[in-house]
Amino acid sequence: MANTRGLRAGRPEESVGERSLSLVSGPVLVTGGAGYIGSHVCKALAEAGTQPICLDTLEKGHDWAVRWGSLEQGDVGDGRFVEKVFVRHRPQVVISLRYFNATGADSAAEIGEAHDPETPLLPLAVDAALGLRGSLVVHGSDYRTEDGSCVRDYVHVTDLADAHLRAVHWLMSQKGRGRHDVFNLGSGTGHSVKQVVDSIGRLVGRPVPHVYGARRPGDSPRLVGCIDKAQRELGWSPLRGLETQIEDTVRWRMSMRR
Ligand SMILES: NC(=O)c1ccc[n+]([C@@H]2O[C@H](COP(=O)([O-])OP(=O)(O)OC[C@H]3O[C@@H](n4cnc5c(N)ncnc54)[C@H](O)[C@@H]3O)[C@@H](O)[C@H]2O)c1
Repeated sequence: MANTRGLRAGRPEESVGERSLSLVSGPVLVTGGAGYIGSHVCKALAEAGTQPICLDTLEKGHDWAVRWGSLEQGDVGDGRFVEKVFVRHRPQVVISLRYFNATGADSAAEIGEAHDPETPLLPLAVDAALGLRGSLVVHGSDYRTEDGSCVRDYVHVTDLADAHLRAVHWLMSQKGRGRHDVFNLGSGTGHSVKQVVDSIGRLVGRPVPHVYGARRPGDSPRLVGCIDKAQRELGWSPLRGLETQIEDTVRWRMSMRR
C-alpha cells in the first residue's frame, strides 16, 4: 500500500490515555461529545481516568454515543446554559475544535461515524463496496496529481483523540494559566481518492463500484497537513495508517447494519 510505511509499525505505541492524565484533577468538558470525533475523545479521556462531560445539542450527535460520562444537552452558544454546566461540573479543561478528514472508528466498534447523510469518502466507498449503497462518484479525474484524483490527508479518529489528550497534558504542564496554541493534526501523508478506492476494494475483497464525475468547485488538488509541530511539542504521531482506517470503518459500518 502506498504511503502507509511508518504509520503501522506493529501495535500502536503507548498513548497518553494509557499513561493517564495525571495533571488533570477535574472533569473535562467536550463540546460535541455525542458526535463522531467528540465521542472518541470522551472514550480516550475515560480510559485515561478522567471524567468527560459531554455538552451536545444532539442535533447531529447520538445519545448512544455518550457512554463515558454524563450528557448536558444544550447549545454551546447559550451562555446561561453553559454557565450552569460550569457551576454544576466545574470542568478544568474544555475541548472544542473543528476537523478535516477524520476517518476510521473505535477498534472495538463501540462508536463510530454516524452522520445522515454520510459525506466523507471512506464510509461512502466502504458502503459501496459492501453493497449498502450505489456507485461512488469520484469528483474529478484530471487534477495535476499522480493519478488525476484529489489527494487528501486522512487521520484515524482514535489518533485524533490521543492528540487531544496529549494537548491537554501539554497545556496543563505549561507555566502560567490561559496558555493556548494551535496544532495541525493529520497524518502528514497524502492519499489520492483512487488509492483509497483501490485499497478498500483490496481489503474488502470486492471492488468499489464507482464512476467519475465533474470536479467540485473549490476542491484543491492536494491538501496534506504539516504535523511537525504536533510531533515535536506533543510527542504525537498518528499510528493508524490507511489500512487500519479502512478495516475499522468496515467493522463499524457492518456493526451498524446489525
Ligand atoms: N469528521 C470529519 O472528517 C470532518 C471533516 C470536516 C469538518 N468536520 C467538522 O468538525 C466538527 C466535528 O466533526 P464530527 O465528524 O465529530 O461532527 P459530528 O456532527 O459527528 O459531531 C458534532 C457534534 O456537535 C454537536 N453540536 C453541533 N452544534 C452544537 C452546538 N451549537 N452546541 C452543542 N453541540 C453542538 C452535534 O449535535 C454533534 O453531536 C464538525 O464541526 C464538523 O463539521 C469534520
